Amino acid sequence: EMKKFVDDLLSKMTLDEKIGQLNLVSVGFDVTGPVVSKNVDENIRKGNVGGVFNTYTPIAAKKLQEFAVNNTRLKIPLLFGYDVIHGHRTIFPIPLGLSASWDMETVERSARIAADEASADGLNWVYSPMVDIARDARWGRIAEGAGEDPYLGSEIARAMVRGYQGDDLTKENTVMATVKHFALYGASEAGRDYNTVDMSMNRMFNEYLPPYKAAIEAGAGSVMTSFNEINGVPATGNRWLMTELLRDQWGFDGFVVTDYTAINEMIAHGVGDEAKVGELALKAGSDMDMVGEVYLNNLRQSVEKGNLTEEDINTAVRRILEAKYKLGLFEDPYRYADEARAKNTIMKPEYREAARDIARKSMVLLKNEKQVLPLKKTGSIALIGPLANNQRDLIGNWSGAGDWKQAVSVEQGIKNVAGNSVKINYAKGANITDDEQMIKRLNAHGGELQLDKRNAEQMIAEAVKVAQKSDVIVAVVGESQGMSGEAASRADITLPGQQRELLKALKKTGKPMVVVLMNGRPLALKWEDENADAILETWFAGTEAGNAIADVLFGSYNPSGKLTATFPQVVGQIPLYYNHKNTGRPFNGELLNKYTTRYMDVTNEPLYPFGYGLSYTTFKYSPPQLSKNSISPNENVEVTVQVQNTGNYDGEEVVQLYVQDVVGSITRPVKELKGFQKINLKKGESKTVTFTIEPEDLKFYNNDLEHVLEPGEFKVYVGTNSRDVQEAGFTVTQ
Ligand code: IFM
Repeated sequence: EMKKFVDDLLSKMTLDEKIGQLNLVSVGFDVTGPVVSKNVDENIRKGNVGGVFNTYTPIAAKKLQEFAVNNTRLKIPLLFGYDVIHGHRTIFPIPLGLSASWDMETVERSARIAADEASADGLNWVYSPMVDIARDARWGRIAEGAGEDPYLGSEIARAMVRGYQGDDLTKENTVMATVKHFALYGASEAGRDYNTVDMSMNRMFNEYLPPYKAAIEAGAGSVMTSFNEINGVPATGNRWLMTELLRDQWGFDGFVVTDYTAINEMIAHGVGDEAKVGELALKAGSDMDMVGEVYLNNLRQSVEKGNLTEEDINTAVRRILEAKYKLGLFEDPYRYADEARAKNTIMKPEYREAARDIARKSMVLLKNEKQVLPLKKTGSIALIGPLANNQRDLIGNWSGAGDWKQAVSVEQGIKNVAGNSVKINYAKGANITDDEQMIKRLNAHGGELQLDKRNAEQMIAEAVKVAQKSDVIVAVVGESQGMSGEAASRADITLPGQQRELLKALKKTGKPMVVVLMNGRPLALKWEDENADAILETWFAGTEAGNAIADVLFGSYNPSGKLTATFPQVVGQIPLYYNHKNTGRPFNGELLNKYTTRYMDVTNEPLYPFGYGLSYTTFKYSPPQLSKNSISPNENVEVTVQVQNTGNYDGEEVVQLYVQDVVGSITRPVKELKGFQKINLKKGESKTVTFTIEPEDLKFYNNDLEHVLEPGEFKVYVGTNSRDVQEAGFTVTQ
């Protein structure tokens, strides 16, 4: 039926009307490239536009939709896209934080709520999930993804797509998801945004591609190209990637949108002039041109010259019309712009409550000596730091339609949770950064960072005084939200500005010191780890940040998050990730053994490994038991482990299963995540956790890119993080 409808429509369209459908324009704000779309209203009326983004509200969307439906000959409705990344109006933790929940229901729920709000607000298409594997904490966009692991990343990709799209895209409260950035964007050299990527096929297929594939299999309706090149060809013009792999091998049948002006940028990459890059992109399988207008201005001539056929154009147009059909836009172009629904949906109390719960689940307790946490609801707290009573940064980067004024600060959260029984003594103590150039740059792109002009010593001295008269220090420090995200890479990933100096001075008071972190990437925290009594990683936790942080600090919620990206000791260890290869000269801890893979000045260990995170209680694991020690290649193995809550609080634990393929036709990682379960254990309670390892879990892509299971020895590791595991093993017979 869809095919017939679209073919009918296509047969009525002129070449110019077709080319118009391939054009995506940005309306106004949230510009993330050097170019802005001009004459939008007029272009819509002329039929030169297939979709718009960067505008929302039912009124705005309705107005533009009317231009398209009432003024164009064929009345084809527009797509309305937006960067709904971690919530639409009710903002959830940044994706890196959300992934630390390891809780797929939670992840799906956040996307479901975002879809509900966005679709009421005029939108039908979101530029999420971002599933780029990232192993480089310098890269600002590590904040937007699910960290370093392909298995966890794939689970999260699926959960996000389910949350956005539900099981019926025509419903008024579901939106089309966009998997991005296809592909390998997270591997930009040196962690510098937009930089070159160069990767072996082996690594690509085994380590970087799985989450994109998972999202496609979950039914994601669209894919966004990445800015980087792959094998020397920019992704946007890469036919192998966009057609052979994505469509022919993976069976993707949605449409591909480029990233912002990515076709034009192929000129700077050095693969041709404007006409040429337009042809390359269209032939590669990039269907919609975001903002760059290369298609609009060049495709007619390319067809006239015979460099492209009208059928090439039809292929792209067909996919876009199909997307509109799947969304039900031909039935009702105004389905997603409902003022009454917007009023009843956006930021409703139930969604704020969900945001608080989701935020708590995303926080990771990195250290807790002598049970400093949870705090008692008595006495006095020295609440110190540039992020302690800050609202502006809490909703994080890419929080497009979120309003920071709606965010709950930590100070407010503590008041809400502890009431008047705790006395708060506040001091700012330091600026987030004192680098005026950096502040200028951040503020030029929507930031609101204010430099406190008092000198650093004065600010620190004031904070020390406040600490001296209090029982415990809670120092809320970290990055400004604009220090991560797009075009926000950092070469130094320690706490910016004078914040470590502030902590050093506070430490000297001898008061117990709790460090609450807000940041969009793993930081290098060696000093903080050695000197703070407790460290709570809260990322940028969203609208309900302050309440959620207070819930954790006072123990109304026992933290259960686990890191999804390795925290190095120092930036020079990057890229540092748990699922690395062994090398021919592994370091075995013998310091005098010089010729092994190591640094002279730092060990190979991370500060906090992948999967790491503490709880207020403790868990004891039994050694893992296997159902069999030897299986044939099509059999399953069951792994069982007893986990006991041995501490003083009820709590949740993420039980993690890793597998190592000991010998392969190509080298295999030292371990790879292949299962996890988040369980709830009452104080004293024990549970048996069972994992089933299926043949599919033991497969990998060999050097011929065949997905194979190679018989032989496998090791199994189960534990509380990727480092602290117990081992078992089995053999797969021929
Ligand atoms: O969706 C984003 C993408 O992640 C980066 N460039 C701009 C796009 C649209 O805003």
